[in-house]
Amino acid sequence: MSRWLNDILCKDSLAKDDLVQLLSVNEGIETEAVLEHASRVRNTFTGKKIYVRGLIEFSNICKKNCLYCGVRGSNPFAERYELSKAQIIELAGAASVAGYTSLVLQSGERNDNAFARKVEEVVAKIKQASVGKTGITLSCGEQSEETYKRWFDAGAHRYLLRVESSGTRLYNKIHPSDGKHDHQVRINALESLKKIGYQVGTGVMIGLPFQKVEDMADDLVFMKSVEADMVGMGPYIEHYHTPLYPFTPLLKSPEERLRLSLLMIAVLRVYMKNINIASSTALDALDPNGRMKAVFAGANILMPNLTPADCREKYDIYKDKPVLREAEELIAKATGTFKKNGLELCMEEWGDSPAYKSRVHLPEANIRNNSALK
Ligand code: 5AD
Ligand code: SF4
Repeated sequence: MSRWLNDILCKDSLAKDDLVQLLSVNEGIETEAVLEHASRVRNTFTGKKIYVRGLIEFSNICKKNCLYCGVRGSNPFAERYELSKAQIIELAGAASVAGYTSLVLQSGERNDNAFARKVEEVVAKIKQASVGKTGITLSCGEQSEETYKRWFDAGAHRYLLRVESSGTRLYNKIHPSDGKHDHQVRINALESLKKIGYQVGTGVMIGLPFQKVEDMADDLVFMKSVEADMVGMGPYIEHYHTPLYPFTPLLKSPEERLRLSLLMIAVLRVYMKNINIASSTALDALDPNGRMKAVFAGANILMPNLTPADCREKYDIYKDKPVLREAEELIAKATGTFKKNGLELCMEEWGDSPAYKSRVHLPEANIRNNSALK
C-alpha cells in the first residue's frame, strides 16, 4: 500500500480532507487496500460476527414524494399494498421459528392515527409472542416525537431514518419543496429518536446526480456529528417513473457506483469504528454479490428480505430491485463464504451497536430489552 494511504488510514482521527482523499482513491489496488483495511477495523472493533436482521417491508403506501423513489405517493404506476397486522405478526413468528432474533419493519411514510396505532400494536404483539426475544427495528419515516415514544414503549428499540443527503443543497435537489420534505425536520427527528432512547441509524444514497465527493465526505462528517449508532447506505439506482430519471445520463456507471458505495462503507468504518453498518439491498441490484462485497468492505449487518414475494415486487423503490433472491439462499451463501474467511453469520444475537453502548454509557448487560443478548 502506498505510504500516504497507509498514513491516512492509521490516523487517530480523520479530518474532512482525509475523508475526501480516501474517497478519491483510484480503482484497483488503492480501493482494494482501503476495503481490506476497513474489514480488519471491523474485526477489531465490532468483531467477526456478522449480524442478521430479517427485513419485512409491510407497506409501500407513502404520502411523500421523494424525487428518486419509485413508491413516491404520486407515482400512479406503483401498485400499493399493506400487510395486515395478522400477516405481519405471522411473518414475524415464522421468522422466529427460522432462527431470526432481529427484525426490521419498514414501510412508506404515513402519519395518520390508524397507522401509528397499527405499528404500536404489531410491535407489542411481536414482543409478547416472542417473550421479548425478538429485537425490533423500525423504519417508518418521520413521525412526531409522541409517535416515536409510543412505538418505543411498545418495544421497538432501534430506528432507521436515512437523512438521504446531509447537505441541504443536495437534499433540496432530490426532494420537492412542498412543505413535506424539510431537511431540518428530518435532522430534528433523529434527535427526537435519540432523546427517547432508540439506537439510531441514518444513511445516505451514493452516486446521486449532482453529488460530489465533498458531499460524500460531508455525509460522513454528519454521521459522526449526530453520533449515529448504525448506518445503512447504498447506491442510488434510477427508477423510470420518477422525476429524477431524466438525470440518468449524469450518473456514474453501475460499476463505478458500486465501487464508490463499497468505498464509502469502508471509509465510514475507518472513521466510525464501532458502529453497526448495514450492507444495503440496493448493492445487489448492481452486482449479485454486492451485499457480500460490502461485508468485505467493513459492513457487519446483513438484512435478508422476508417480505412475501408478491409484495416485494411492489416495494419497487428502484429498478432491478433483486426480488427473487430468497432469504434462505442468502443465509446459506453467506454462512459458507464467511466461514471460509474467518467470519461468522450470527442470527441468535441481537448484535446491538457497540457505539450505542458507549454513547449511553451502558455496560452490555444493561441494555434495554436485551433478553436475547448472550
Ligand atoms: N435508489 C436507491 N435507494 C433508494 N431509496 C429510495 N429510492 C431509491 C433509489 N432510487 C432508499 C432511500 C430510502 C430507502 C427506504 O430506500 O434511501 O431511505
Ligand atoms: Fe416514501 Fe421513503 Fe420513498 Fe421517500 S424514500 S417516497 S419517504 S418510501
